[in-house]
Amino acid sequence: MADIKFYSRPAVPLEMHKVKIVQKLTLLPSEERLKRMENAGFNTFLLHNGDIFMDMLTDSGVNAMSDNMQSAMLRADDAYAGSETFYRMNDKLTELFGIKHLLPAHQGRACEHIIAQHFVKPGNCVIMNYHFTTSKAHVTRLGGHVEELVKDEGLVTKSTLPFKGNIDLDKVRACIAKEGADNIAYMRLEAGTNLIGGQPISYENMKAATDIAREHGILTVLDASLLQDNLYFIKLREESMKDKSIREITRMIADLFDIIYFSARKFGFGRGGGILVREEAMFHELEDYITMFEGFLTYGGMSVKEMEAMIVGFEETMDMDIISQGPIFIDHCVRALDSLGVPMVTPGGGLGAHINAREFVSHIPSEEYPAGSLVAALYLCGGIRGMERGTLSEERNPDGSEHIASVEMVRLAFPRRVFTLSQTEYVIDRVKWLYDHRHLIGGLRFVHEPKTLRFFTGKLEPVSDWPRKLIDAYIADFGEEC
Ligand SMILES: Cc1ncc(COP(=O)(O)O)c(C=O)c1O
Repeated sequence: MADIKFYSRPAVPLEMHKVKIVQKLTLLPSEERLKRMENAGFNTFLLHNGDIFMDMLTDSGVNAMSDNMQSAMLRADDAYAGSETFYRMNDKLTELFGIKHLLPAHQGRACEHIIAQHFVKPGNCVIMNYHFTTSKAHVTRLGGHVEELVKDEGLVTKSTLPFKGNIDLDKVRACIAKEGADNIAYMRLEAGTNLIGGQPISYENMKAATDIAREHGILTVLDASLLQDNLYFIKLREESMKDKSIREITRMIADLFDIIYFSARKFGFGRGGGILVREEAMFHELEDYITMFEGFLTYGGMSVKEMEAMIVGFEETMDMDIISQGPIFIDHCVRALDSLGVPMVTPGGGLGAHINAREFVSHIPSEEYPAGSLVAALYLCGGIRGMERGTLSEERNPDGSEHIASVEMVRLAFPRRVFTLSQTEYVIDRVKWLYDHRHLIGGLRFVHEPKTLRFFTGKLEPVSDWPRKLIDAYIADFGEEC
């Protein structure tokens, strides 16, 4: 985003795009929101879109497309095999990443499924800077385990560190010594790290970590789903990279890895995914999984229209004006709430603004899901749908006890190019109100708890009648209609 100075007004984030298509939003009355939340089992994943005013659940598959992306869809080449759209997509990715071989897949977790299925054997270890829910579940499902080696300071919620997603190189060396290089299926670096607040990893850190992996013959894998935000932060915050173009930085990062995969629901502003494989022999080893689980090798379960759009989206990712929009809005939101005393994860990262729920509702024990309770309360008080990223998103330990998350957060995602500044101000206002009434928020317990990825479809209930009391306080301040 251009650094545009203001004359008589305080500077605010300025969009370098204009709105051409809109979707009407509805703000249901608060009593109605309480009913919808009860029907959804206090799980924001189970709300209907029509229940919601501000949908800040995720940045996945809900980013706004540009005019150029939409017009590209018209030339999609719909063939089961040999679609020209696929070859255009392959060429664009090869141009940006310098890797020739592309395996298309329907989304990010499909790529994770295939990579884990091929490389992880029971007892194996996968090194990560930090896990993502699906990336970990695919490893553990196969009897492997994940070692999360993010630097300790990455988990300190309030910080000024520019690269909280960095992996701890000493821990990497110690882990290799303990596990033995042969038992490590791969090292997966996530740029940037979703579950600790979209925090970036520096180029220097990726280089040092992949150098160690290579020294020990360990396969290196980049999860590039959130790369666009990470590219922005590298250019902005990493001194040695500030004179490089986004295109050059992308290529320098890509050169460090054997495999790069991405969810195009984020990277490329579309809906799909892909795995880039450097070595031809390895590419052929992985091919069968695509035809078995995804689709033919030239569409991989994706709509060719989406593929055409994302080709344009990949190119738009090289444009600083475009990739800065999300992080700048997030930064505005985080700074505003921080200055109002709300415990936020700082500095602002990519993908969303993150509230430190452990501190916000410190009276709720981890076993009653502080972030899950807070995210439900936020829907009740404003129609804002966020996402729980804490203990509820973890799987239970083998003995059935809760695996208490190291960070307990509510994510307010900023789908790229979607929300306006006034909507952002509304969110800031309602979060502040809720913070001032936080003592009214109580815990949750499961009434239906799926074994795997329980946060998606599990149903919960409040441990007391706190939602009623919260809504009463809200109505007293804002009236029945909002
Ligand atoms: C870093 C990261 N990796 C993988 C995924 C999984 O991608 P998908 O949702 O397309 O399956 C996500 C999705 O949020 C993600 O943020």
